[in-house]
Amino acid sequence: MARVFNFSAGPSALPEEVLKECAAEMLDCNGTGQSVMEMSHRSKAFEPIIQDAEAMVRKLMNVPANYKILFLQGGASTQFAMIPLNLGIKTGKAAYIKTGVWAKKAEAEAKKLGLEVTTLASSEDKNFTYIPRVEKVTGDYDYVHITFNNTIMGTHYEYIPDTGNIPLVADISSCILSEPLDVSKFGLLYAGAQKNLAPAGVTLVIIREDLITDTPRPGTPTMLTYKTHADEGSMFNTPPCYTIYVLGKVMHWIEKNGGAEGMKKRNYEKANLLYDYLDKSDFYHATAEKGSRSIMNVPFLTKYSTGAKDDASVAKEKEINDAFVKGATAAGLVNLKGHRLVGGMRASIYNAMTLDGVKALIKYMDKFAAENK
Ligand SMILES: Cc1ncc(COP(=O)(O)O)c(C=O)c1O
Repeated sequence: MARVFNFSAGPSALPEEVLKECAAEMLDCNGTGQSVMEMSHRSKAFEPIIQDAEAMVRKLMNVPANYKILFLQGGASTQFAMIPLNLGIKTGKAAYIKTGVWAKKAEAEAKKLGLEVTTLASSEDKNFTYIPRVEKVTGDYDYVHITFNNTIMGTHYEYIPDTGNIPLVADISSCILSEPLDVSKFGLLYAGAQKNLAPAGVTLVIIREDLITDTPRPGTPTMLTYKTHADEGSMFNTPPCYTIYVLGKVMHWIEKNGGAEGMKKRNYEKANLLYDYLDKSDFYHATAEKGSRSIMNVPFLTKYSTGAKDDASVAKEKEINDAFVKGATAAGLVNLKGHRLVGGMRASIYNAMTLDGVKALIKYMDKFAAENK
């Protein structure tokens, strides 16, 4: 079967070149006569693979020397706990900006672990369709947490809150390396790999060294202590070797395609094309407000999503959405069903999505709109 255009929010499409390289090296990687899946993580064969992946992240993200790069497990969701456990140790107070489902989950975990949590701002009043403006934060917080790109709601910060000396922590799971980011403005950055970096299985953490403590909150398990992993070069226990290997290859692919600046150009070209189409359409509309729109996740509704709750309107909306997704799948455009909290459709157009993919989507959308006026 021909390859499809995959608009999944995660796990997501990987660059085809990377998949081909992985396939070519499946039985014999670097002349070792083994697949990376079979290698000991402590072997001479694996050592350069993890070192290269780390060096490439450092290079592409321009990570300053006083930050450690960690390859962890447990997904971004485990970071929701590791952050309060390791950073919430001076005043036990933390501040969160609530911009969607993942931001809420991160905040809930800090509360669960006994921190005194302040919600600095929230966009829940409008179903998280925008990013609140919190330019400056003061207070005795141990850290301030933001979700830089909101995968479900399709919103993204177009500014970085100024938190002064308070460490700023950001979940960049769904926007890492989509455009340049000044790492030095953050105390800690984290991202699950399964959108822009690699298959699922590894979580990238970039942490300023002064935030790595050997006295996390009492009772913190060894595995949830950043210092454990920082001291052992992410080799305290068996790391997800194959995922790290693919991540390294994706980093080289990004470099070949112009690095973070190259990704920015590529991503804005795709996103602008899609948003321009949506903004001009009288059949579809984007749900995220201008000024807060993600260039990675684009949720959109049709004119049949009126908000009316009567049975006929709900049934018509479902019929149209189902028909859209079914027709798209038949046309080789997959995983476009919207998240249940937003409804409609969502096109996730991460780094690996091509401009041709977005053009094919718009062509299909146009045809569908004409047929369902
Ligand atoms: C912004 C964001 N944060 C956190 C998560 C949770 O990630 P994981 O499944 O790796 O725990 C997701 C998953 O989609 C996400 O989009």
